[in-house]
Amino acid sequence: MNIDASRYQHWQVEVDATGLAWATLDKAGESANSLSSTVMSELARILDGFDGKPPRGLIFRSGKPAGFIAGADIQEFTQLDTPEKGIELVRRGWQLFNRLAGLNYPTLALVRGHCLGGGLELALACRYLLAVDEPTTRMGLPEVMLGIVPGWGGMLRLPERIGAQAALDMMLTGKSIDARRAKRLGLADDCVPPRVMDNAAAMLVLADQPRRRPPLLQRLLNGPLRGLAARAARKQVAKRARSEHYPAPYAIIDIWQKHRGDALAAPELIDRIVRSPTARNLVRVFFMQERLKGFGKGSASPARHLHVIGAGVMGGDIAAWCALRGLTVTLQDQGIERIAPALQRAYAAYRRRIKDPRELRRVMDRLIPDPDGHGASRADVLIEAIFEDLEAKRALLRKLDALIRPDALLASNTSSLRIEDLHGALNNPARLIGIHFFNPVARMPLVEVVAAGGADPEMLQRAMAFVKQIDRLPLPVKSAPGFLVNAVLGPYMLEAMRAVDEGLSPETVDQAMIAFGMPMGPIELVDMVGLDVAMAAGKSLAGNDAEPPKCLRERFAAGHLGKKTGKGFYDYPKGKPAKAAAAAVPAGLADRLLQPLLDRTQQLLRDGIVADADLADAGVIFGTGFAPFTGGPLNYLKSRHD
Ligand code: NAI
Repeated sequence: MNIDASRYQHWQVEVDATGLAWATLDKAGESANSLSSTVMSELARILDGFDGKPPRGLIFRSGKPAGFIAGADIQEFTQLDTPEKGIELVRRGWQLFNRLAGLNYPTLALVRGHCLGGGLELALACRYLLAVDEPTTRMGLPEVMLGIVPGWGGMLRLPERIGAQAALDMMLTGKSIDARRAKRLGLADDCVPPRVMDNAAAMLVLADQPRRRPPLLQRLLNGPLRGLAARAARKQVAKRARSEHYPAPYAIIDIWQKHRGDALAAPELIDRIVRSPTARNLVRVFFMQERLKGFGKGSASPARHLHVIGAGVMGGDIAAWCALRGLTVTLQDQGIERIAPALQRAYAAYRRRIKDPRELRRVMDRLIPDPDGHGASRADVLIEAIFEDLEAKRALLRKLDALIRPDALLASNTSSLRIEDLHGALNNPARLIGIHFFNPVARMPLVEVVAAGGADPEMLQRAMAFVKQIDRLPLPVKSAPGFLVNAVLGPYMLEAMRAVDEGLSPETVDQAMIAFGMPMGPIELVDMVGLDVAMAAGKSLAGNDAEPPKCLRERFAAGHLGKKTGKGFYDYPKGKPAKAAAAAVPAGLADRLLQPLLDRTQQLLRDGIVADADLADAGVIFGTGFAPFTGGPLNYLKSRHD
């Protein structure tokens, strides 16, 4: 029997022969489900419809292959221009999900694929949650990453389900968990393979057994011992985020501790959060991220075989990352002994990530040492990552040009050479694209996709699609020294070293920028990049005006090249910098250090190296970790002038 399917734009509701109701969300005109105000009001009407005639059970599921529900409709957050609208948005979800939680018939969320934010809050309001065991199934409350709080019952129900510690950890980091972990934690009642999911859902909801409760300690921490858990959580958060930059995690702890997760009991807090510049900026960053991902969408068929030449720091890590993402990768260098360290590094990294030994084997099997370069003639994509030497690269490209497939994508990972200068080596120069990764590849989300003049648009598009395929964010840039990211970092690091030359300690300089909200200070960054690279880059990026800073020259001359030699501006006794206490940071130091970075970003935008201000902000945030709460350098400049 089908009840009133035509009444809903986004839902389909059917009651089957056993009296079980199935509510399928398939948001019209979208590839993923989100909880817009219409979706929510339709859900309320569905519940109204059952009020007089309750079904034996109600199962929520998704009609999208992409997943269950990705969250609230973030577009709607951008329209909250009055305090009332913010509170109203919270109230709508809080009340509706309370109503769902209070129904007198059993309800179940059948979670396959992503189930995030408001989607998980809906699932938590159901009596049961059945997770489908698939790699794409992820559950989490990532609101904190947008600078907001899970106000639709997440702060109440997640700690009730899985205990305070695990819940706070998920809510305060925004991290998501997979189906099996959800079952282990008690978030999911069960975890089943896709082929049995509908049957399993029906059986679970009809059996209507009492749910498993979290262990006693966790119940205490969510009850009388709340203060203890809150204190520990505040301490953890303080290590990562300052409340003036990121108020949301602190508000989550307060609302959970003092109001049992009911955000409506603290309207002033909600108003402050929802309309804070941080939330506005983080939401903007989210949309910028979506835009970058969008560059990689297209009809190009996915690459299957990658050939990497150069198994050093970058080539080795690029190869390892791409094998992890499912590609077959052949890795070439001048001899097997040069490839072996890259394979060892890959194995160690995979072991940390992959628990299933068969999966580990499969990934390792996809990463193939290829000292003779047999893979080159078969690959869909080739990336050269040999050392930064124009002649060596040209010689290599010339050889490759003669043997690779005519339709293969050919890319260089050069960080400072002009792509145009490599053109002469090729019969068809238009095919060469820069694909510039950052170090460490597995941690840096951005990849610059560099178009030299006359680049083949189809190859460019394939390069973006390739970057998206391996889960990185492609940023299109024009070919110029340092592209966007290194070009803005150069003058910033230089200014920091000048401050050291003037007598400030590296610790004080770094502290100024950490207090501003950078993930790492500029001097430590120089140590990480390497003082040799900074010397070379300084010459080409800073222009002719300057001698390299004295502090850099001296250390370089003494062979102290930074983290890789165990000594640079800091000592690295166990791989970590040994820092003395910072002195008081002089007023205005952060602004002074930032100014060259801001100036250079504006300059690159004017020069058209990056197409618009949003892309420049996105590139600098995802490529350098530039304090995301500011919305990026250009947005920060604008807000300083407002
Ligand atoms: P590396 O020195 O660690 O590795 C270079 C590797 O290339 C060596 O193993 C060498 O044996 C091999 N090689 C040299 N000539 C070869 C040839 N003709 N055939 C096969 N293998 C050859 O260098 P790294 O740091 O990995 O840099 C590689 C490229 O990546 C450079 O273009 C660099 O500018 C760029 N890059 C480096 C970054 C970094 O942080 N190290 C970041 C982004 C780009």
